[in-house]
Amino acid sequence: MIFQTAAVFAALVCLVRVSAQSSKKIVLTNDDGWAVAQIRAQNDALKAAGYNVVLSGPAVDKSGTGSSSTTPTKLSGPCEFNSCPSGSPATGFNASDTRLNYVNAFPVDAARFGIQTLAPQFFGSKPDFVVSGPNIGNNLGSTVLISGTVGAASEAAKEGIPSVAFSAATGGQVSYTTLTSSPASTNSKAALIYAAASVRLLDVLLASSAPILPSGISLNVNFPSTSSCTSASAFKFVLTRINSNSGATDVQTCGTTHLPTESSVVAKSGCFASVSVFDASTKGDVSAATQAVVLGKLSSILACSSDAMTSGARRQFRVLGLGNLQ
Ligand SMILES: *[C@@H]1O[C@H](CO)[C@@H](O)[C@H](O)[C@H]1NC(C)=O
Repeated sequence: MIFQTAAVFAALVCLVRVSAQSSKKIVLTNDDGWAVAQIRAQNDALKAAGYNVVLSGPAVDKSGTGSSSTTPTKLSGPCEFNSCPSGSPATGFNASDTRLNYVNAFPVDAARFGIQTLAPQFFGSKPDFVVSGPNIGNNLGSTVLISGTVGAASEAAKEGIPSVAFSAATGGQVSYTTLTSSPASTNSKAALIYAAASVRLLDVLLASSAPILPSGISLNVNFPSTSSCTSASAFKFVLTRINSNSGATDVQTCGTTHLPTESSVVAKSGCFASVSVFDASTKGDVSAATQAVVLGKLSSILACSSDAMTSGARRQFRVLGLGNLQ
């Protein structure tokens, strides 16, 4: 009887958690364009996880355009992969799925259109969160300054909407139709793996207590190649910094107050994904206190990238009689 009550209670807790997640309203954007495989795989994965999603991406590939902004204009050629005809209006949508929207301007403008125009239309309110990417190719170190993926995430944070920029090593500029026409291709598989891995991080972050992130702050997340990391669960998230700075004191974690750079962590073998906390205005690293807020929120999924096993883990190994470590 007691067991039954406990089981029912657990089931209720589970239901409450799912409905809390599903109420989260997300604008999804990128810089590679609204019709690439990566953003559509991310859209599918977010919807499958119960989020309320509206996609607002550039009509064509706008990689490397940073925080550029302009007034959207009528299309003078087709949208990427012929996903809309030449002469189409400055902003448009898929008639059979009106939550799929393009904006013929920069990533910043697509994010802004999603936040200011589409969110009120579909959600009746501002979005809770903006997801930018996953980008095709990593955005590490000083590259964040020219990245449209990071530019769009920064725009959201500057407008008061917390955001994450995701970027990933494996993939090419291919249409979303590739996901169904060539599901076994490297591009399709990578798009699905990164989309699911992004949801792993978002599930933890979006379930944390409000505010989801401190004001004006965004996260820059980078995934290594899928060549040896063949599932979403293979990735271990590590708290990093964007730029190396031996003089800075970071939040204390993994036995040090100097976070590794995102470039060094993504380059390591072991499927480490970097998570850097950045200031949306400067696109630079933040104080230890601000890093600590994110560390607290993501602690359940954060790992250490140091190759050496900690002395605590060695002791545990010996206690459990699991073998002699050299
Ligand atoms: C529009 O949505 C339909 C239905 O989901 C899909 O078959 C079609 O490929 C989509 N086209 C674009 C450009 O998104």
